[in-house]
Amino acid sequence: MRRFGRIFKRHGPLPQSGEPMQVIVNTNENTNGTLVLPLWQDSKNMAPGSESGVHRSLKNQIENILVEGDFKAKAGTAMTLAGTDGGKALLIGLGKEEDATPQVMRESGAKVTASCKKIHGKTLTVKFHGMEDAYMAAFVEGMILRDYSYDNYKTKDEDDDSDDRELKIHVTCEEEKHAALETSAETSSAVATGVYLARDLGNAPPNDLYPMEFARQAIEFGSTHDNVDVKVINYDEARTMGMGGLVGVGMGSYRKPCMVIFEINGDKPGPSPCIVGKGITFDTGGISIKPSPSMDEMKYDMHGSATTFGVMQALVASGHKDRVIGLTCMAENMPSSNAQRPGDVITTYSGKTVEVLNTDAEGRLVLSDGLWYAGTHLNPSYMIDLATLTGACVVALGHEASGLWSNNDELLNNIKEAGEHCGEIAWPMPLFKAFEKEMTDSKIADVRNLGAGRWGGSNTAAAFLKQFVPNMEGTDEQIPWAHLDIAGTAWGAKTNKLVKNGATGIHVRTLHHLITGQ
Ligand code: BES
Ligand code: ZN
Ligand code: ZN
Repeated sequence: MRRFGRIFKRHGPLPQSGEPMQVIVNTNENTNGTLVLPLWQDSKNMAPGSESGVHRSLKNQIENILVEGDFKAKAGTAMTLAGTDGGKALLIGLGKEEDATPQVMRESGAKVTASCKKIHGKTLTVKFHGMEDAYMAAFVEGMILRDYSYDNYKTKDEDDDSDDRELKIHVTCEEEKHAALETSAETSSAVATGVYLARDLGNAPPNDLYPMEFARQAIEFGSTHDNVDVKVINYDEARTMGMGGLVGVGMGSYRKPCMVIFEINGDKPGPSPCIVGKGITFDTGGISIKPSPSMDEMKYDMHGSATTFGVMQALVASGHKDRVIGLTCMAENMPSSNAQRPGDVITTYSGKTVEVLNTDAEGRLVLSDGLWYAGTHLNPSYMIDLATLTGACVVALGHEASGLWSNNDELLNNIKEAGEHCGEIAWPMPLFKAFEKEMTDSKIADVRNLGAGRWGGSNTAAAFLKQFVPNMEGTDEQIPWAHLDIAGTAWGAKTNKLVKNGATGIHVRTLHHLITGQ
């Protein structure tokens, strides 16, 4: 009996990954632990000034290697040196100086943590010299972001201490650059707590992370921070309120749906930014069931909600003082005798009816209620939704960029710029009237949840969402709104060097930067 109890009910909170690594910014010459040396391509010696504090035999070894051309320092390469009595070193290739960008530097920083093995120990010293502030900041950010792995469900081997590695990284730079680097490293660490949280939520298995468990974690977050309020609209309330989109998607599951609303600094005046996340904790497709291969990946179908929660955490950790709203639409999309069917017509919270032609196009249904609720109850200055919405977006943009749609050019440009700044590309996509027409020509309802054909599937999905953006009060103009389709960017692709695998925490940094300017 006890065994079954453990299978069906988890006691206590879900395990979480640790805090970001400790980064200490120094101006002294000491080398603590392994020396980490970032090098421009084809360097023949260490940057003048960076040799001080490095033991002569290690310095000789490094310079021999560079002179011989044994380490060319191409971008994305690393070499470990050991065996002298001068300590160990990790050489990191930055590529050509003229090709450097913040993203190259972030990825180079990530290479440090990705290359770190037992031999390097737990303490490292990165020696910068003659490096721009923005590049050092990006390098440090990359080290922090890549130092994450989701090992919560692995049984620990008592003899192996590699999995409890907690890195401590000293970073040294010139005196005049110290203050700026220390500030940027602190901000990166604060924001990384939000990225880590989003990754934890995205990686959590769907048997343990279901809608009301997400709500429970959100409530716990609210109760541990004075400036955060969390409200949950549960299944019964959603039904009473007429949230037909959320209820229709979630009712087929034993794990019932809910809506979670975060408010940060609610005592400050609005209107305020509002982030809305798709939170399908598992998407089987429902009655329009998906094929089995890779269905496990549909646990990430709540990454929009994970990012939303992560942004809230990042804002709190970085000390943001203004009001910000988050809203997540949580449901599990399951087939069952109580599931919605293709052919059903539902009435959404907006009052608009939707013909459900495919139960696998469920993200747009839950978001229709989320956007309408946010726009009519939460006083947003703008709304940005994030959703692993369509496979078609992955076809269009691969894993390199999220799709970005907006009814407001200024908001679109601001998000695009924030994404570029953070190396999280959001690529503009069209909201043609023709797509809206396609989605509003249902024979029997106001809107249909499936395009007429399969072409332009990510655009028709965005056009569907636009039907549920309310007007600004007293006007016939919609609230500024943007939609980010993160289906291709929410989990680890080989091209994303800032994450080992699994959930990426995509756009926590973009949105934190957009909202705070930090
Ligand atoms: N969650 C999926 C979209 C998805 C696909 C995310 C692949 C990540 C990777 C979404 O709910 C879905 O199933 N969309 C359908 C829509 C279609 C039925 C109109 C799709 O993309 O096939
Ligand atoms: Zn689906
Ligand atoms: Zn989905």
